[in-house]
Amino acid sequence: MSGLKSLYQPFAKLLASRKLYLSKSLQFSSLFKQELAHSLDFVRYTTLELCCNEIKMNNVAGNIAELGVYKGDFAKRVNQLFPNKKLYLFDTFEGFDQKDISTEKQNSFSSGEQDFSDTSVELVLNKMKYRSNCIIKKGFFPESATDVDDKFCFVSIDADLYEPILAGLKFFYPKLEPKGYIFVHDFNNDLYKGARKAVLEFCAENNIGYLPIPDSGGSAIITK
Ligand SMILES: C[S@@+](CC[C@H](N)C(=O)[O-])C[C@H]1O[C@@H](n2cnc3c(N)ncnc32)[C@H](O)[C@@H]1O
Repeated sequence: MSGLKSLYQPFAKLLASRKLYLSKSLQFSSLFKQELAHSLDFVRYTTLELCCNEIKMNNVAGNIAELGVYKGDFAKRVNQLFPNKKLYLFDTFEGFDQKDISTEKQNSFSSGEQDFSDTSVELVLNKMKYRSNCIIKKGFFPESATDVDDKFCFVSIDADLYEPILAGLKFFYPKLEPKGYIFVHDFNNDLYKGARKAVLEFCAENNIGYLPIPDSGGSAIITK
């Protein structure tokens, strides 16, 4: 993959410099042009940018959060797009917790074995253009959120596993402003079957709709 990526990036950059994109319909996106050379997941990033435009156009109040930050690569873009919003960053910064892994294994949702421990708060903060907007919530979610009393216009839930994703939906959805968005990553990812189950359960119980998108991993988007 890294060999393919190293060939793809200069080629994509060359095409972009001549205003040639994989799809003409993506030419609206300034972020797409900037980031093309750094990311293969243009659907995820351009959808983020479009939702950000809607939030700004509708003057949606509230702050931003990501649950599941890892090295901050998605959070970095969110921080860049919302210079005037606080960004809560929830992660253990030490990888999955054993409690969540047990549920994964008992229900055959995933192996729970992926290692996300090679990160740190400093590494993430160093990527942020608006570092002073960031509020680090290090620790096991949802316990790490007990002191958070805020409203949100955009939330990214990218914790991979059933328990934290369901807990994230229960915590953030009531705090979501009207016309705000929650992205849940891995909704259509067979490697993390708990993500889909958490979304389906939460949405059915609360009579909420969602939109699946064809990004890498297959996110579901919830709005209010
Ligand atoms: C796939 S990574 C996030 C990737 C990141 N959003 C990105 O796009 O680069 C999943 C992260 O969720 C975190 N995580 C999973 N369960 C958690 C929990 N219960 N509490 C806090 N963090 C959790 C892991 O530590 C890991 O860093």
